[in-house]
Amino acid sequence: MLKDLFIGLSQNQFLNSAAKKYGLKLGAQNVVAGTNIEETIKSIKELNAHGISCTVDNLGEFVYQKEEATAAKEQIIAVIEAIHDNKVDAHISLKPTQLGLDIDYTFCLNNLEEIVAKASDYDIHVNIDMEDHGHLQPSFDILDELSSKYTNVGTVIQAYFYRAEEDIQKYKNYRLRIVKGAYKEPEDYAYQDKKDIDKNFIKLIEYHLLHGKFTSIATHDHNIINHVKKFVKANQIPNDKFEFQMLYGFRKDLQLQLASEGYNFCTYVPFGNDWYGYFMRRLAERPQNLNLVVKQVFNK
Ligand code: FDA
Repeated sequence: MLKDLFIGLSQNQFLNSAAKKYGLKLGAQNVVAGTNIEETIKSIKELNAHGISCTVDNLGEFVYQKEEATAAKEQIIAVIEAIHDNKVDAHISLKPTQLGLDIDYTFCLNNLEEIVAKASDYDIHVNIDMEDHGHLQPSFDILDELSSKYTNVGTVIQAYFYRAEEDIQKYKNYRLRIVKGAYKEPEDYAYQDKKDIDKNFIKLIEYHLLHGKFTSIATHDHNIINHVKKFVKANQIPNDKFEFQMLYGFRKDLQLQLASEGYNFCTYVPFGNDWYGYFMRRLAERPQNLNLVVKQVFNK
């Protein structure tokens, strides 16, 4: 029930636009690294000092105007320049809908190509985040086109999709982030039951660890993390073949612990003033995250 409510709120375009005007509110500042590049680089440096690398996401969705998509592209290129200039350990995560996928496929592809080409000049990886099922195939098509020219690009496999197993086999030679899946998807396309999703998640992770190029295991679920720790040990999978990923601000102790245990760890660092949809999806995943809101309201 609460999950559906927050997913519904995350897609409310009126609230989304209103939130942009008011800066980081409702506790969002606990899970969003900053509203501009300078603040974000500072947060990345702090994480790097603990041996944690970062993947940076310029927050944004519901982009239906070319000017807005072009501005997002320019901002992401500015982040790439800042990563390079500051010599921080970070790469890029981006969402095709922010770069014009809902406007025009070729326009979006060209925007992504400019970003990937610039990142390639500096040897910076670009991850194409995966959104809902309506955007899945065109996002894979973009990946196919870009990876025919560049090697610094990868994507995400969402374990709730029935097609995920086929996708992971097809893309085994890519650097892949594997996640459970964050959007509300219909039964025709995706598992609904948590147990089925978890089972498929583990199956996909094990497959890519054994056969894939590089695996980013993106989860806050300690049961999955403990399973992976045992699996890599039993199968002698070296540390440089995988990393754990978590979102900025969540399970900070566990993030530090995994890094100090010698695992590669990467924090997903979202920034910008378009934080609303991202924040609502985090509340949908785990209503206990409402604590962040409550703390904010009472700690004024
Ligand atoms: P889940 O929410 O299923 O929780 C499982 C258990 O873990 C909980 O019952 C609890 O015991 C524990 N737990 C979870 N969070 C906790 C917390 N904060 N504190 C204490 N215990 C906690 N999705 C997508 O569709 N496309 C994408 O591109 C991405 N990208 C992405 C990047 C990164 C780095 C991450 C971490 C996640 C994504 N996701 C995503 C989101 C992903 O699909 C998923 O919705 C969330 O990670 C939530 O699922 P979890 O696996 O984290 O655990």
